[in-house]
Amino acid sequence: MKNKLQTIREEFFEKLKQAQNAEHLREIELKYLSRKGELSSVMHNLKDLSLDLKKELGELANNIKKELEHSFEETKKIIGLQADNKFIDITIPGEKVKRGHLNPITIIQREMEDLFTSLGFIIADGPELESDYFNFTALNIPPLHPARDMQDTFYVDIKNQEDSFDLVMRTHTSPVQIRTMKKFGAPLKAVIPGRCFRNEATDARHEHTFYQFEGIMIAENINFANLKSLLEIVGKKLFGPQTKLRMRPKFYPFVEPGNNGEYTCFLCEGQGCRVCKNTGWLEIVGAGLIHPNVLRAGGIDPEKYSGLAFGFGLTRLAMLKYGINDVRLFNSGDLKFLEQL
Ligand code: PHE
Repeated sequence: MKNKLQTIREEFFEKLKQAQNAEHLREIELKYLSRKGELSSVMHNLKDLSLDLKKELGELANNIKKELEHSFEETKKIIGLQADNKFIDITIPGEKVKRGHLNPITIIQREMEDLFTSLGFIIADGPELESDYFNFTALNIPPLHPARDMQDTFYVDIKNQEDSFDLVMRTHTSPVQIRTMKKFGAPLKAVIPGRCFRNEATDARHEHTFYQFEGIMIAENINFANLKSLLEIVGKKLFGPQTKLRMRPKFYPFVEPGNNGEYTCFLCEGQGCRVCKNTGWLEIVGAGLIHPNVLRAGGIDPEKYSGLAFGFGLTRLAMLKYGINDVRLFNSGDLKFLEQL
């Protein structure tokens, strides 16, 4: 029995040396120290021995038990401390958290929204699947008007027993001009960022899905000078204080007069380079004074109020700003494209 006690002791210390965590400790405790453990069962058997032997071995067993329990507690403390230390060791480098990326269009959109809200504009929104009426007719483009050809799109026919009407994937953000006028009346200052769709033969510069950034300002006596100064502010904000604006006539049915706004190229500052195709100018915004028919469709009296409107190609802005040379990358779903920023 003496041998048995020695063996238990040796085994115990061997195991304890190897113990590395709480789980190992629990196993050791169960096997050697618990009420059903090996030490207890040896002590239990002492009762059958002679008095002398019982005394001698009993003392030995008790000493061993104390020794083992003491060592066990010590080891437990050390392992506990190690676990704690690991938890609070502030010198261990943190794990790198992987962050998402904002789409380049989102970045430009937010920049524009910040500028316009600081000028007192509200941000308005409208549906991407739009009625033919809001997308064309209310914007002074009646059915069969040739201007519809410039903006061919995806038509969705809804037919049921009572009704039949045309929906289109909106070709520009301009239908939200009408929606916003109807909702808020005049005076009104609003910008409208959003996704638009056209039937395009896609290439590096044409895409069926793209973003615009529209704006309207309606009050008494809004004139062309207001439009020009506003677009100048935007140009300087986007491309720097040296930026110049020029406005050239262009026909849009919903403005009169209508024009194309062009800024001096931010890269060559008007000298001519690859980005501006050697013209020195970047064509970015369509604009004009809101046509009286459009104000009327929005429920606003054109005798009392006048307004300005402009529409930026947001996708085009992002392409220029970030030097993206193929518009199709935006819809490609290619993470390598997005993770560059
Ligand atoms: N809606 C026009 C387009 O998509 C842009 C525009 C907006 C022009 C507002 C004038 C006024 O081309």
